[in-house]
Amino acid sequence: MKIDGQTRLYILIGNPVAHSLSPLLYNAAFAACRMNAIYVACPVEPEHVGEAIEGLRALNIAGVNVTSPHKETVMAYLDQISGEAALVRSVNTIVNRAGKMVGETTDGRGFMADLGERAPSVKPGDSVLLIGAGGAARAVAFALVQNGFHELYIANRTVGRGRFLADILQCSVHEAHCRVIGLGQEELRDALNACRLLVYCLTVDLEPVKAVLQDHASSLVDKVFYDLRYSPAVSETAALFRNRGGIAINGRGMLYHQAISAFELFTEQRAPAEEMLTAYRKAHEREI
Ligand SMILES: NC(=O)c1ccc[n+]([C@@H]2O[C@H](COP(=O)([O-])OP(=O)(O)OC[C@H]3O[C@@H](n4cnc5c(N)ncnc54)[C@H](OP(=O)(O)O)[C@@H]3O)[C@@H](O)[C@H]2O)c1
Repeated sequence: MKIDGQTRLYILIGNPVAHSLSPLLYNAAFAACRMNAIYVACPVEPEHVGEAIEGLRALNIAGVNVTSPHKETVMAYLDQISGEAALVRSVNTIVNRAGKMVGETTDGRGFMADLGERAPSVKPGDSVLLIGAGGAARAVAFALVQNGFHELYIANRTVGRGRFLADILQCSVHEAHCRVIGLGQEELRDALNACRLLVYCLTVDLEPVKAVLQDHASSLVDKVFYDLRYSPAVSETAALFRNRGGIAINGRGMLYHQAISAFELFTEQRAPAEEMLTAYRKAHEREI
């Protein structure tokens, strides 16, 4: 890789970021396209988000990915926000368009593409238990209801945040029917029994969820657990789900698919999907 005075810089901001596979995916893509660009991960504390965005402008950073916990807070500092990102109040991609910082979201697209590939038996019409209501959860939930998954249970620690999500979903897609619950074991158990697909959008493994899976009387063989996280490759919660016979998927494929969309927004050229896939598979082999 050549780094010189014209190298364009792309970054990831969030906290933590050390586990991220994004540098690997984007640097493979830049190399494949012979672009004079590099991608690095920068940890940013919540109190420094505004300064970080000002820094992007000052340093003319070409593009940024945003991860937890900043997907919502960055929005206040941007010049423009795409319709979908504004609706779900979540930005995971910032494109520098001639000095204007434009917020986009590619999480929903990435999730749906990966779900279709890795859990083809899950079909529109199946009920979904979404655990979490943060930035990624909102983007994923919106993609689900837009793609025909109209029956949604939304479980979140801050129930008001869950209600807010239910409201935007039901206003945008009239067929959507959302029930908002907290993280109590009984309500989680009922929702688990009613749903075919569980989408885990939290940053941490939660005791009540683990307890429900541990104590679950019947097999989970017909159910799919999609954990947005990918480091470690199999979370504690995913392992419990698998022990009960269910299919557990991690978020690595979602990362790959959302990175393809973000690369195309950054560069306005087709992403080198094969080379990105090779980089992704190498990382996958290392950890499984
Ligand atoms: N694979 C991918 O491509 C991909 C893409 C996007 C995100 N992700 C992953 O998805 C996860 C969520 O990301 P995000 O951007 O949505 O994060 P976020 O906006 O910070 O939301 C965090 C969520 O976790 C909940 N939470 C955090 N700590 C908790 C605790 N101690 N007890 C109960 N709930 C807790 C929050 O609940 P409250 O609302 O109550 O605070 C909220 O629902 C992260 O691990 C991220 O890395 C992966």
